[in-house]
Amino acid sequence: MIRIAIIIGSTRPGRKAEAVAKWVYEIVDIKDFNLPLLDEPLSPIMGQYTHQHTKTWSAKIASFDAYVFVTPEYNHATSGALKNAIDFLYNEWVNKAAGFVGYGGAGGARAVEQLRLVMAEVQIATVRNQALLSLFTDFENFSVFKPAPQQEKSVNAMLDQVIAWGSALKTLREKQK
Ligand SMILES: Cc1cc2nc3c(=O)[nH]c(=O)nc-3n(C[C@H](O)[C@H](O)[C@H](O)COP(=O)(O)O)c2cc1C
Repeated sequence: MIRIAIIIGSTRPGRKAEAVAKWVYEIVDIKDFNLPLLDEPLSPIMGQYTHQHTKTWSAKIASFDAYVFVTPEYNHATSGALKNAIDFLYNEWVNKAAGFVGYGGAGGARAVEQLRLVMAEVQIATVRNQALLSLFTDFENFSVFKPAPQQEKSVNAMLDQVIAWGSALKTLREKQK
């Protein structure tokens, strides 16, 4: 059995993220961790955290083998909140797997592409399949989440890859111990 976290990448009041994330699976909501802008004196790669909020976030992220990032698109990127939450940690992410569910006016495609570059630096392997939800076709009146039927297929294909890669990397991490 591998543990997969669905990470909500938006903290905005009135955000669409919750409805999208709940559709996928059980969730880790970065809003619940009350992370300020990165306030640790040492680089996260040292793993020497001084603040309780970092230690709590670290323990939560370390407990998973794979992640699905649910990201809005803000100005052709992911949200500052999600980037900041990723930046807080390092070794907790290494040799894990991730998939993406993006949403926005253009389906969140640019946010997901940008996140893939960030993932490369924290040594997370990202899967090809992804779900991209459009405000025009997957939300009624641009607000109520009503995903088009084919989106379920996209999510399932992505999850299959996350499970496969997450399991393979779990084996690798166990061999490295
Ligand atoms: C600051 C900001 C910037 C945005 N920039 C883009 C963008 O570059 N491309 C896009 O397709 N949608 C953009 N949008 C639309 C958002 O993707 C859309 O409002 C989405 O619902 C935001 O996620 P949230 O409701 O979870 O906060 C932007 C929205 C905000 C608030």
